[in-house]
Amino acid sequence: MATPNRLTILPDDLTIAVQPGETVLDAMRAAGLGARFACRRGGCAFCKVDIVEGEVNYEYDISSSVMSEEEYANGTCLACRAVPNGDVSIELRDERLLVKSSLLLQLRRIGKEEPAEDAGDAADES
Ligand code: FES
Repeated sequence: MATPNRLTILPDDLTIAVQPGETVLDAMRAAGLGARFACRRGGCAFCKVDIVEGEVNYEYDISSSVMSEEEYANGTCLACRAVPNGDVSIELRDERLLVKSSLLLQLRRIGKEEPAEDAGDAADES
């Protein structure tokens, strides 16, 4: 069985496990974290974050109308399509993490022991 990669999310500095082949967005959702998204198919650009460290792969082509070559070069990450290629750190854009499930977060979290604040029954994150 392949070893999960580590996904560190800034500015909250929270690290979770990413299963092989899993996208950044799916890993965050599986860890009980809210994240900004809409289409989940690489078509709307709502899920953009910035890569601080590490690399991601895209198994599907991304339209240049969603992400330009310059954005690729500058480390923009389309979270719904990006699959980490090793350990990756990302930074959210103008948002903070929303913890929708402390239980799921406990199962995926790597590192620090203190539990993140639970948002309870927050509405859908999109
Ligand atoms: S959610 Fe639409 S491009 Fe990622």
